[in-house]
Amino acid sequence: MTLRDATEADLPAIVEIHNAAIASRISTAQLDPVRVEERHDWFRAHSPHQYPLWVAQIDNAIAGWLSFREFLPRQAYRGTAELSVYVRENFRRRGIGRRLLQAAIARAPQLNLHTLVGLIFAQNQPSIELFRTVGFERWGLLPGVARIDYQARDLAIFGRPV
Ligand SMILES: CC(C)(COP(=O)(O)OP(=O)(O)OC[C@H]1O[C@@H](n2cnc3c(N)ncnc32)[C@H](O)[C@@H]1OP(=O)(O)O)[C@@H](O)C(=O)NCCC(=O)NCCS
Repeated sequence: MTLRDATEADLPAIVEIHNAAIASRISTAQLDPVRVEERHDWFRAHSPHQYPLWVAQIDNAIAGWLSFREFLPRQAYRGTAELSVYVRENFRRRGIGRRLLQAAIARAPQLNLHTLVGLIFAQNQPSIELFRTVGFERWGLLPGVARIDYQARDLAIFGRPV
């Protein structure tokens, strides 16, 4: 498996993986499928030196991706970033999510980050377990802040210093 910075040519695969997770209803607050054309600005908001976007490639397949993004816009939060990680269904439970998160933790100091967070729906057990395996702890719970298909969802905040 190779972990590398994503290129714009990876965007269709990234979007495909994202859309499969959107359909699961437990992974993301994005509810409607996204189109590649809508994601170019999101893609360009990443940079290898500030908020990287990485893909995990196995042979010719994009098996998963990880993104860093700004946690909150005010200056005092500059050293904190939010991570999102997505793995294609047929590549799950092979350690890809863990490898991506471990790489993010290892890279964080070079990105001038001191803290990483994951904002995870409380019923997203696979993601919660994954973040826990690499040392994240639950720092908070925002009860009922999201509505998915008319159901209230709690948002858990997982974090770790790096
Ligand atoms: C969460 C997700 C990224 C995990 O990726 P993955 O590559 O399958 O995870 P890994 O194989 O690296 O798993 C590492 C550990 O996490 C935990 N874990 C992963 N999936 C799990 C599951 N379905 N149930 C329970 N624990 C799980 C286990 O402890 C696992 O270690 P083990 O396989 O040795 O038991 C993947 O399920 C996914 O893409 N889900 C949809 C997207 C999503 O919800 N992303 C999170 C939003 S931030």
